[in-house]
Amino acid sequence: MRELTPDTITDAVLDQMSATPDPRLKEIMACAVKHLHAFAREVNLTPAEWIKGIEFMTAVGRMCTPERQEFILLSDTLGLSALVNGLHDKTAIEEGTHTSLLGPFYREVAPNLALGSQISKHVKPGTECVLYGRITDINDKPIANATVSVWQTGADGLYDVQEGPGAVDYRGVFASDANGAYYLRTVKPLGYSIPMDGPVGGMVRAQARHGMRPAHIHYLVGAPGYRELVTALYLRDDPHLADDVVFGSSGDLAVDIDADDPDCPIKGLPSIRFDLKLARESAADKTSGRVGSDPSAILKPAAREGITTEAPAPAAS
Ligand code: BEZ
Ligand code: FE
Repeated sequence: MRELTPDTITDAVLDQMSATPDPRLKEIMACAVKHLHAFAREVNLTPAEWIKGIEFMTAVGRMCTPERQEFILLSDTLGLSALVNGLHDKTAIEEGTHTSLLGPFYREVAPNLALGSQISKHVKPGTECVLYGRITDINDKPIANATVSVWQTGADGLYDVQEGPGAVDYRGVFASDANGAYYLRTVKPLGYSIPMDGPVGGMVRAQARHGMRPAHIHYLVGAPGYRELVTALYLRDDPHLADDVVFGSSGDLAVDIDADDPDCPIKGLPSIRFDLKLARESAADKTSGRVGSDPSAILKPAAREGITTEAPAPAAS
């Protein structure tokens, strides 16, 4: 038997995992082990630091509930979610509008509204604005009857679900018209802090980071034959546009509020125009999964097909 040393242990682990029947699982785990070992070697990880890491991950897991997914927040604040989204965009057969984070406040349940409706139940004077644009393919061909789901904070920087259980506000689902146009009334969103009362907040503070997201409005857009688009627009004048704690904001998704846009379909209010381009769907898109996840879906049994946390049933004798 060969001697196990810091130089040989990586190969020993890879050898032991080499019979993994699922080729993708084999590839992912081998690469994860190589990088994990390289990381420990590079920083010369001490036992005290190793246990601190284990305690941190345990605290992250303990914080997770159907309403709160601290592991996704960790992934977000380390830039992993944005990286995975960017890699997903690169696999599209056409380059449409880029993806941005779904975030933890997406809910399947939202009211279906007629074009032009106000999505906020609390419109304070001076906060109202119009949100409009066109849904097209990458060649500017209008996509009629696309489902356009939007959600955002109120003018106080809070999502409806943070105001109380069961509250539904600042969100709605619209269908684009025959010209691919959508338009609605809303309130100007405000930037906000990610939840800072858990282990991820502790990490962000220890790194002297601020924890803020720039003001944004989320979109989930779908139409038959097109790749589902999860994205968001970001207000260009927000002071945190360039240092979003979860790396979702990007120059190509930044928009201005126009005080008097002659093209705005609803007159007399400031407006935001955001056009979205959908890429055609490929066969591979049907299995690549949605960008981001509703936290409540993760704790549902069989939420992730093929991945189980249950011990396998004992083999029949
Ligand atoms: C959000 O945009 O809603 C969000 C995204 C990532 C972490 C926290 C919030
Ligand atoms: Fe958000």
